[in-house]
Amino acid sequence: MVYAGEILVRKDAGRIDEINARLKLESMPGTVGIAHTRWATHGAPTAVNAHPHTDCSGRIAIVHNGVIENYLALKKELLDLDHSLASRTDSEVIAHLVEEYLRRGEQLEQAFRRALQRLEGSYAVALVSSLSPEKILAARRDAPLIIGVGKGFNMLASDITALLDMTKEMVFLHDGDMVVLTASGYVVLRIDTGETVERQVKVVDLTAEMAEKQGYPHFMLKEIFEQPETLRNSLKLQTEYVDLLAELLDRGRTIFLLGAGTSYNACVTGSYLFSQLARLPTLPVIASEFIPNYGASIGVDTVILAVSQSGETADVLSALEYARMRACTILGITNTVGSTLTRVSRAYVLQNAGPEIGVAATKTFTSQVLVLAKIALRLARLRGKIAQYEIDEFNSWLSRIPQAVSEALTRVNEPVRRLAESKVVFILGRGVSYSTALEGRLKLMELSYIPCITYPAGESKHGPISVIESGIPVIFVAPPDEYRKLNIGSIMEMKARGAYTVVVGDALDQELKQLADYYIEMPKIHPLLSPTTYIIPFQLLAYYTAIVKGHDPDKPRNLAKSITVP
Ligand code: G6P
Repeated sequence: MVYAGEILVRKDAGRIDEINARLKLESMPGTVGIAHTRWATHGAPTAVNAHPHTDCSGRIAIVHNGVIENYLALKKELLDLDHSLASRTDSEVIAHLVEEYLRRGEQLEQAFRRALQRLEGSYAVALVSSLSPEKILAARRDAPLIIGVGKGFNMLASDITALLDMTKEMVFLHDGDMVVLTASGYVVLRIDTGETVERQVKVVDLTAEMAEKQGYPHFMLKEIFEQPETLRNSLKLQTEYVDLLAELLDRGRTIFLLGAGTSYNACVTGSYLFSQLARLPTLPVIASEFIPNYGASIGVDTVILAVSQSGETADVLSALEYARMRACTILGITNTVGSTLTRVSRAYVLQNAGPEIGVAATKTFTSQVLVLAKIALRLARLRGKIAQYEIDEFNSWLSRIPQAVSEALTRVNEPVRRLAESKVVFILGRGVSYSTALEGRLKLMELSYIPCITYPAGESKHGPISVIESGIPVIFVAPPDEYRKLNIGSIMEMKARGAYTVVVGDALDQELKQLADYYIEMPKIHPLLSPTTYIIPFQLLAYYTAIVKGHDPDKPRNLAKSITVP
């Protein structure tokens, strides 16, 4: 808060209600203030890393949502200019940069704008200063920021849900906008040119609960449609941690990729990526089977990369505890800062997918695959298994994933009713698409409650094809890779036995299109990265099948988001 010519800061780490009870945030004096609940990306969740962050003089305080990608360079520059930075966050550099421009004689608003121009990455940032005690300065780039227009007051927030209790009149700021806010008004200007712009007030007629779902009837659907954005965030991983994980993985003699549920399926995808890109064989393993299957044979040369959205799954943690006692190296990929997995791991990478509320994992699967692909690429480079032009090419495929996922989200899913009426569904794939099939099966089963059978398509003849009879749906995951011809053979085999074949394949593959009873067109994508995109129709099919059958997609029966008992 800004009060009596000073900035008062209260902050801590922990649960919001407990911090509030301890620090009495609500009773802080003043009428101009900023606050932020930090979802840690850089630096652990500690009091010193909590927002707001202040400059050296204590005259400026900022809160920031996003990632400042060039913060290391900016930090170095500021340290050279005798600034002293207290935290390990990327955000703190913003306060000191503004201070630096003030030192050079700029006025506050201009200093803020100059500082913003130096930032690379994403931000919604708000600043208060004792130099201008009646104002809040704020700006956005690649992160949401909304003004709530009230009677006798104005507010800012990242999300309309935070404002709805106070006002329904909102101004949605555009990327590259900066705003000067007071209790009686606001001025919006462009960060790059400084020119002022008009932004319309919109009346948002939603309840807070509707707004949390952003107009979607269920969290699951919201999270499915959020994927282009979450994947863009996951692409901005801190490369130093990816490098560290790659180095530690490379030192292992035996490498396990360990997870449960969806996270296990991501591990299966990872094993194909590690093998095909980095020529590194790894063993994907279901967490609850790790000790019985491998417990007796692990040791100091073993590296375990655990994948867990929550970082709290009991089977994962007990496998890791067992392995830790035997001097194995533990690495982690998780979506949850401060989770047990982050504490027991020698090194970990955060997925940056944001909180997932729907019990069925959707956006966290695609982001896990993307993180694994980035690690695999680093490993390939480290091990000298890939030429520079191939690295560049693969990187450009990686950056196209969010767009490919957006396109996949527009595809219609007519077979829904047909699936909803089936007593069993087959989902088949070869190579990395076997992992897509595994995750597709999990989605369909947990939401529709229809038994699903999945195995690598080459296994049909070894038993499961005996189940096939007229009308049973068989869904093939068939990207245009080296298994295309074999897939055609498998589809014919199923058709010959009367199966109803659905094929998820490349939009331009005419031959497959003609062969399938129903074809779901996918955009062009590198076949090894296809799980990120080819899983989308399964997520949508699962969701809509649940709706047709009258199930709650957010809370499938008998399931929980995080299984913290063995
Ligand atoms: C539960 C959830 C699944 C999830 C699995 C593993 O079974 O219902 O959606 O994939 O746990 O969770 P984790 O947090 O370890 O990824």
